[in-house]
Amino acid sequence: MEIKKIGIAGAGIMGSSMGQIFALYGYDVVIYDLFEKALPTAKARISQALDAMLAKKEITAEQKEQTMGRLAFTADMGGFRDCDFLVECVVEDMNVKHDFFKKLSGIMREDAIIATNTSGLSITKIAEAVKNPERFAGMHWFNPPHIIPLIEVIKGDRTADTTADIIYDISLKIGKKPIKVNKDVPGFIANRIQLAVMRECVHMLENGIGTAEDIDKCMKYALGFRYACIGPFEVVDFGGLDTFYHVADYLWEDLSDAKKPYGLFKELVDGKNLGVKTGKGFYDYSGDKAKKALDRRDRLFLTLKEAKLEN
Ligand SMILES: NC(=O)c1ccc[n+]([C@@H]2O[C@H](COP(=O)([O-])OP(=O)(O)OC[C@H]3O[C@@H](n4cnc5c(N)ncnc54)[C@H](O)[C@@H]3O)[C@@H](O)[C@H]2O)c1
Repeated sequence: MEIKKIGIAGAGIMGSSMGQIFALYGYDVVIYDLFEKALPTAKARISQALDAMLAKKEITAEQKEQTMGRLAFTADMGGFRDCDFLVECVVEDMNVKHDFFKKLSGIMREDAIIATNTSGLSITKIAEAVKNPERFAGMHWFNPPHIIPLIEVIKGDRTADTTADIIYDISLKIGKKPIKVNKDVPGFIANRIQLAVMRECVHMLENGIGTAEDIDKCMKYALGFRYACIGPFEVVDFGGLDTFYHVADYLWEDLSDAKKPYGLFKELVDGKNLGVKTGKGFYDYSGDKAKKALDRRDRLFLTLKEAKLEN
């Protein structure tokens, strides 16, 4: 099936950035939000992001104009009527997502492909509110979507193989690096890895084995440095399975197997210290430190992207 027109539901951080990418790659895009006031914010966010690309000569002024021309913004779900594909990016709440998909049923074509960008809700459960759930799957992007290459394509219990293939192919067409998640498990693949790493990091911090700075340095200057180029299975293949097997044999039993977040992590969250957005998390982001940290993050991410390590 040929996809020409794409609907994005939810004009927030993820939805606006996805709209930008699809439009940049030549698709007509309708961005919908329940709240009309979200639409000018999304439009301005996309325009600014394209200006930044223009300043770096990644696109021309003409390309910016064409991209903006392919985008429509609406608070009317009727805008999805002639879309071939839709990505839902509304808030991470099962009831809100169910309400949205129930309303969508009477509007969208029954053969259109539908995806959800849920971070971790069950695809199978969300699909209960989708008419023809075989054309529905997860399409999990990573923030910031215009920089991070990975997209997880997740099959729910009723997702047809062709649906997963279509979403996989469109991800390739917009320059992403998709992977297929064959089972609808909590956390899909990326968050299972990320949260396993986090559990051990929190455990080491809690037990005074290293400071947050030094644990982060360990990731940035050894493990993450390596993982930016080769994955964990390749690391083991290069290092020798026998060596890693022996280490796993004595080390796995010593690693954290905590079943719930606890200690300092829980205390920070209970105290509403939520990171950059509140000015304090594991680090201090008061004053202009948050902006500096975000600028540094995006500059380093872009350096990595320009190094084309994903190839
Ligand atoms: N932010 C991230 O890092 C990230 C990463 C991957 C996936 N996600 C997922 O993407 C989805 C959106 O996240 P976000 O960070 O863009 O959130 P966000 O809060 O920035 O945007 C959500 C948007 O949805 C709109 N909305 C709320 N209810 C709606 C409804 N019923 N119909 C239409 N629009 C509605 C809101 O007005 C808002 O503009 C969530 O499922 C989230 O878990 C987020």
